Amino acid sequence: MRNPRYYVSTPIYYVNDVPHIGHAYTTVAADVMARYKRLCGYETLFLTGTDEHGQKVEKAAAAAGESPQALADRMVHRFQSLWQRLNISHTDFIRTTEPRHTAAVTALFKKLEAKGDIYKGEYEDWYCVPCETFLTELQLVNSACPTCGRPVEKIKEESYFFAMSKYQDQLLKWITQHPKMIQPDSRRNEIVSFVTGGLKDLSISRTGFSWGIPLPNDPKHIAYVWFDALVNYLTVVGYPNNVQRIRRFWPADLHLIGKDILRFHAVYWPAFLMAADLPLPRQIFSHGWWTVNGEKMSKSKGNVVDPFAMVDAYGVDAFRYFLLREVPFGQDGDFSERALRQRYNSDLANDLGNLCFRTLSMIDRYAGGRVPPRTSSAKMKEDDALHKAIAGLGGKMGAAMGELAFHRALQAIWEVVETANRYIEITAPWNLDKQIKKKQRLSTVLYNLAEALYLTSLYLYPFMPETSERILTQLGIKPSFDTWKLAKTARVGALRPGTTVKKTEPLFPRLEPTEEEKAAEEAARQRQLTGRGKPAAQAEKPAQPQGQQGQKQQRQQKEQQAAGGQPPGQVTIGDFSRMDFRTARILAAERIPNSQKLLKLRVSLGTEERQIVAGIGAKYEPDQLIGKQVVIIANLRPAKLM
Ligand code: ME8
Ligand code: MG
Repeated sequence: MRNPRYYVSTPIYYVNDVPHIGHAYTTVAADVMARYKRLCGYETLFLTGTDEHGQKVEKAAAAAGESPQALADRMVHRFQSLWQRLNISHTDFIRTTEPRHTAAVTALFKKLEAKGDIYKGEYEDWYCVPCETFLTELQLVNSACPTCGRPVEKIKEESYFFAMSKYQDQLLKWITQHPKMIQPDSRRNEIVSFVTGGLKDLSISRTGFSWGIPLPNDPKHIAYVWFDALVNYLTVVGYPNNVQRIRRFWPADLHLIGKDILRFHAVYWPAFLMAADLPLPRQIFSHGWWTVNGEKMSKSKGNVVDPFAMVDAYGVDAFRYFLLREVPFGQDGDFSERALRQRYNSDLANDLGNLCFRTLSMIDRYAGGRVPPRTSSAKMKEDDALHKAIAGLGGKMGAAMGELAFHRALQAIWEVVETANRYIEITAPWNLDKQIKKKQRLSTVLYNLAEALYLTSLYLYPFMPETSERILTQLGIKPSFDTWKLAKTARVGALRPGTTVKKTEPLFPRLEPTEEEKAAEEAARQRQLTGRGKPAAQAEKPAQPQGQQGQKQQRQQKEQQAAGGQPPGQVTIGDFSRMDFRTARILAAERIPNSQKLLKLRVSLGTEERQIVAGIGAKYEPDQLIGKQVVIIANLRPAKLM
């Protein structure tokens, strides 16, 4: 039996502009779906490409003093190299200037013509070139395009029309009967009311420019760029001639798009398909819009975020993670490098990175570098919690991915990561190691941790393929498609013990604070020191002891103070404000030889790194401390110890 198949597409992007994070967003999301479906055993067609025709591209080329084809040839590389950089696993890349596409557009036009759905008329109204959209007088806002706000052109020219109005009722009925076809629901409602409001026939040819596909019956007419572009989804399944392939891959399972182009996909495209007697796509999902630091991204504002720069600075997986974790898929979101840095440090460096680092170093230290077997069958409460988290992951992932709720899928993975980090705290392997009797338990604990890490890495694969590969390699497991496929059937006990772990570089080294972050932290510290901030102000108010005993204490204190003395064990606000308390994160910890109590810590204060010594070695193990936040007194007089 053949594998089930899955077909997902991104929009094809205009080549008049360089790719930015908006384009990266849709394409990364589609890649995650494609990778996930492959894990689930689907033969996957994943399509992306470039939209190279139309007036907008023609104008951009003229402005650059080159031919539209030369512009397209130059720009297509920018997109292709970005997809390579972002580890996009598309299986086809379409350019609308390819002969196979001209053939498909021509065939579809002929089909609609034969159906009697094409007629010649005159178009007299407005056109927005940046949006490549026909507009009526009524739709204009302040005489400009309602979508992009830019000036519109008046057109009066002969045009071929598609009898879209004929399909109004059929389309409405289809949408009603297939509530999942247009998602999210709020957007679906917009489309329903748009169609209910009445569909007009659609102009599908232009004569005012020449960069596009000529109509077969009347070559001075150029196919409207959206008619041209939408057909790309059919071109790649071999329309019109490859009947077998069409049958296998059409209809598409998912057209992933931004909300800006929903109407083209959810109204025009289904109407074309109905007219051509072809099945409609199973789902059109329109995601939300990214702004940058609260503003619309635009070339004139100069705030367009370059995805290459983000990948250079933070790595491909951190960027992919941020895009899908920060904002619930379907909603609008705001991009800021600061938010990206925060996610990087907390979720990646701290949660995931530390889990990996601690687990592997403990296997290294306490088990000779090999994943030990699960030995004791006695299960502790904390084992149950971890196993429950692991066992629930597949189901949660499946449910989230089915709804394209990528942020929820990632949350589910991070629940396991957090549970595993807690498991380290609770089981305290460093204590087990000290007791001969506890060696079996230690082995089980280390196995459970390795297994949690292993399963996490399998489920991470669609989102962060390189990270998944690195974790598997560190666990001594060969990353391969056969390994990743196991995610689907993975159960507790899935990991085979005995592999030799390879401790390497941390997955996500912590980011050093930027000048801006340092300044912000310094300002916050100054506020605290001078008592203008909240924490110091609170401290000025003496704590109110509760209850009878409290009242007695208060009375005693008052008496003492009245007598001019200071209550024993208390400090003055002056003492307090001389202390430079700061939060610090522990980057590394090791024991000082020949001391029971002393640990040497390397800590980051945000603005700087320091080495300090802490007398906490009797209570804490070095492994336990890595990644922890602690409060230190930063102005303690240096001292020589031992
Ligand atoms: O519309 N936030 O191409 P296009 C989120 N060629 N997504 C964004 C975004 C943002 N700020 N900016 C762009 C076209 N996108 C047509 C499509 S399909 C048959 C033809 C993403 O280059 C989002 O997916 O203008 C949006 O739909 C797409 O880029 C538009 O790309
Ligand atoms: Mg656009």
